[in-house]
Amino acid sequence: MALHHENSKTRRKEKEIEQEHAERNAQLWDRRAETYDEQRFDYLRQMQMQLLGKLPLAPGQAVLDIGTGTGWAVRRMAAMLDQQGQFYGIDLAAGMLARAAAQSTAYPTAHFARANAEALPFRSGTFDLLICTNSFHHYLHPAQALAEMRRVLRPGGRLYLGDVTSDSLLGKTLDWRARRREPEHVRFYNTGEYQRLFAAAGLSYQPAPSGLWVFKIHVGEKEKEKDSTTL
Ligand SMILES: C[S@@+](CC[C@H](N)C(=O)[O-])C[C@H]1O[C@@H](n2cnc3c(N)ncnc32)[C@H](O)[C@@H]1O
Repeated sequence: MALHHENSKTRRKEKEIEQEHAERNAQLWDRRAETYDEQRFDYLRQMQMQLLGKLPLAPGQAVLDIGTGTGWAVRRMAAMLDQQGQFYGIDLAAGMLARAAAQSTAYPTAHFARANAEALPFRSGTFDLLICTNSFHHYLHPAQALAEMRRVLRPGGRLYLGDVTSDSLLGKTLDWRARRREPEHVRFYNTGEYQRLFAAAGLSYQPAPSGLWVFKIHVGEKEKEKDSTTL
């Protein structure tokens, strides 16, 4: 009985921490929404461009951008495929999503929803491709987020995750600095950690060179369905 009580107390505490972290992120990014698309932040779009350049995009696909911010990549992908497909973006911050929607009125195949990356509001097997840029380091439970990403991918579908990666001294320093100064930051991971996290989530891992040094792209593929006709 006492053990059960302790367990439910611990679980309640964990829930409070999760809620506080999500609220902190949402509030902070709501405040940043108004200036996020200014030219001084174009380096963020450059990173997204690097990642979009690697995608095996094809007309008719369903694509999801996790932690989409103001939805720049969603619009870009819709334009790249001449609107042929369905392009979704989710984010925790209502302010970012309001800007995303306001800028996407000419994109009928772009859709946005408020959601946590750790609990994606989509059926299993919905998406051909997932992207996630400069957002993963905010997630309190990275393994849970990756499990959700794998779940919503169709068999053979791929995740393209781009983020500062702490392989180099600069990457480690940026992580140390962000942990001290940015309460919404959780961690930058190194390539070995990404490999282990992807493997634990059931995604086969491949690197994809980005050319932008500390910003690295990590690709995970969900296994294809076994062909029942082969012996
Ligand atoms: C630095 S911005 C990146 C936006 C965009 N992906 C880009 O590359 O410019 C980080 C975004 O991640 C979102 N975010 C943070 N934690 C999240 C979570 N757990 N679930 C969904 N979005 C989250 C924030 O609200 C913010 O819009």
